[in-house]
Amino acid sequence: MIINKEWRVLTVGDGDLSFSASLLTHHQPSSLTATVFDDSEILLAKYAVNDYDTLLQKKCPVLCGFDVMDPSSWGAIKKHYFDVVIFQFPLIPAFKSHQEFQEKCKEVHINTLNRQLLRTFLIHSFEHFLDPNGARLCYITSKDVKPYKEWNIENALHRNTDIEYLGWHNFDIDAFPGYKVRNVDRDKHVKDTKGITYVWSDNKQHPLKQELSAAVYKGEAYCELCATGPYNNTEDKLRHNQTRKHLNMLNYEALWQLLLDRENEI
Ligand SMILES: C[S@@+](CC[C@H](N)C(=O)[O-])C[C@H]1O[C@@H](n2cnc3c(N)ncnc32)[C@H](O)[C@@H]1O
Repeated sequence: MIINKEWRVLTVGDGDLSFSASLLTHHQPSSLTATVFDDSEILLAKYAVNDYDTLLQKKCPVLCGFDVMDPSSWGAIKKHYFDVVIFQFPLIPAFKSHQEFQEKCKEVHINTLNRQLLRTFLIHSFEHFLDPNGARLCYITSKDVKPYKEWNIENALHRNTDIEYLGWHNFDIDAFPGYKVRNVDRDKHVKDTKGITYVWSDNKQHPLKQELSAAVYKGEAYCELCATGPYNNTEDKLRHNQTRKHLNMLNYEALWQLLLDRENEI
């Protein structure tokens, strides 16, 4: 992960704060503010080992109960201040009951809810958290497996905004000693930590772009939606277009578009 020591960093949704603690110790940004979705009592109860105290001892501001979707939870977070906002392995919290699942997913697919979390993270970061005169970057680290790869991260999230997708690089967890990628709702850490960090800015000419890899699955020979290809010929691609995987992605895209259309109506 590219971290400039002059940057002021905001982390979002850091389960047990081990990512923020490692970032602070091993990358020494100019400043760090860490946020966690759970309240502090829940965080301490959920993760027996956590870095809450580590950060407080280092005088690093930590805000618990921070919901990136809900401005009323943002408390004293500095506005228009940060250079980069980072969300590691975002995922909506598991539903507490079947009833909650039925209520929340009555009209919206869980795939759409996850895309909405990531899109709102990007929009709120550029509108509220990033310094107009700073580096103006958002990082999302995610995985190249289901369900994450079904979010069409490189293309769908910033649609109809001024935000530009700059590119990606592999996330090297060895550069973050002590970081345990947490399961969204349990005191377990994920063993397969292979990740990709995707980068956005509203500066289309951002110099960081040169250090990133461009989206791979672009152009006629590929399927952008499914992130597959290259296909040798038109027949191969047409065959792919009939697969369950592709039809599934088309369905997710249609549901996502419905949500974007609704945004426009508001
Ligand atoms: C798979 S966990 C990853 C946790 C941590 N970032 C890590 O890398 O270990 C997904 C995280 O996203 C957080 N999250 C989900 N919805 C959120 C929201 N609306 N605002 C902020 N964080 C959220 C969850 O609380 C959870 O900690």
